[in-house]
Amino acid sequence: MARGPGLALQSQPLLSLLLLAAVASHAAAEANCTCPTNKMTICSRDGPGGRCQCRALGSGFEVNCSTLTSKCLLLKARMTAPKHGRSLVRPSEHALVDNDGLYDPDCDHEGRFKARQCNQTSVCWCVNSVGVRRTDKGDLSLRCDDLVRTHHILIELRHRPASRAFDHADLDAQLRRLFHERYQLPPRFVAAVHYEQPTIQIELQQNMSQKAPGDVDIADAAYYFERDAKGESLFPGRDGLDLNVRGEPLLVERTLIYYLDEKPPQFSMKRLTSGLIAVIVVIVLALVAGVAVLVISNRRKSGKYKKVEIKELGELRQGPSL
Ligand SMILES: *[C@@H]1O[C@H](CO)[C@@H](O)[C@H](O)[C@H]1NC(C)=O
Ligand SMILES: *[C@@H]1O[C@H](CO)[C@@H](O)[C@H](O)[C@H]1NC(C)=O
Ligand SMILES: *[C@@H]1O[C@H](CO)[C@@H](O)[C@H](O)[C@H]1NC(C)=O
Ligand SMILES: *[C@@H]1O[C@H](CO)[C@@H](O)[C@H](O)[C@H]1NC(C)=O
Repeated sequence: MARGPGLALQSQPLLSLLLLAAVASHAAAEANCTCPTNKMTICSRDGPGGRCQCRALGSGFEVNCSTLTSKCLLLKARMTAPKHGRSLVRPSEHALVDNDGLYDPDCDHEGRFKARQCNQTSVCWCVNSVGVRRTDKGDLSLRCDDLVRTHHILIELRHRPASRAFDHADLDAQLRRLFHERYQLPPRFVAAVHYEQPTIQIELQQNMSQKAPGDVDIADAAYYFERDAKGESLFPGRDGLDLNVRGEPLLVERTLIYYLDEKPPQFSMKRLTSGLIAVIVVIVLALVAGVAVLVISNRRKSGKYKKVEIKELGELRQGPSL
């Protein structure tokens, strides 16, 4: 009994401080009416009571600016964004070209990828929760069951030569902090950080059962990271990553992202059918000109698992802003 009021008194200053902070940040967002987590939005005071409301470009979907926007909505916004004077190099007609990496996706009512994507044509295919194709293409009669979850993402970075190798523990702590603070990904989903100069690997792992309502999805955190690493940050007012490990800048030279689904992908290519585990790879080369997505399949020597590679060569940019 006696503890009740004591506790209440003690927590009062903290509570009012928290309230003040909440009011202050709310007021700042209101005064400005912009979306701090997604610059591909249009914001206005059309919400109830003149509240600042932000809608994603391309879909008009209302986004929650206190968390990350889903990758599906971001891809959609990207497809509709004007390409200001970017000169693109067209690959040869005979090159193995596919648009898998970049397409205008169909998103569901929560902004997630629909299991079946048809690209506004009569060509359809099934995707996983990161929007990557995981079946052969078919026609409008193609059926995709539930969306297959990508539960393991391996991000492989190569950094530019540094004066000396980074300390593994420092790097580990810095990258975990980045994912937590910048992408709001709860630390338990960063399974491991591996390092062998100049390659860094970040493993993200998240099963549906581990994901609480409101938790950021690893698919979205990885996509925000990918765009940051390419110098095309989705956060307003920033170009890319500004990472330092004990004062030494970490400059990313190349990023590869491997997606592992809960179920193996279903490609009819003979070499793939018997795969126990399959890895889908998206390679992002920020410094290479031209847009092309190459689908290459190759067999791991071990024969234990097969790999499907989807390469997305980055768009031509003025220069490396990594
Ligand atoms: C929004 O706020 C930022 C800093 O909080 C300020 O630099 C910027 O000028 C503001 N923009 C507008 C349109 O008021
Ligand atoms: C998707 O649509 C775009 C534009 O309409 C087209 O250029 C592309 O070839 C299509 N991709 C596929 C896989 O059908
Ligand atoms: C996540 O799910 C996969 C496949 O269902 C399973 O192999 C793995 O052990 C699970 N991981 C955790 C941490 O529960
Ligand atoms: C926006 O996201 C935050 C963080 O996940 C959550 O707490 C809040 O309830 C969400 N707001 C709405 C309107 O969904």
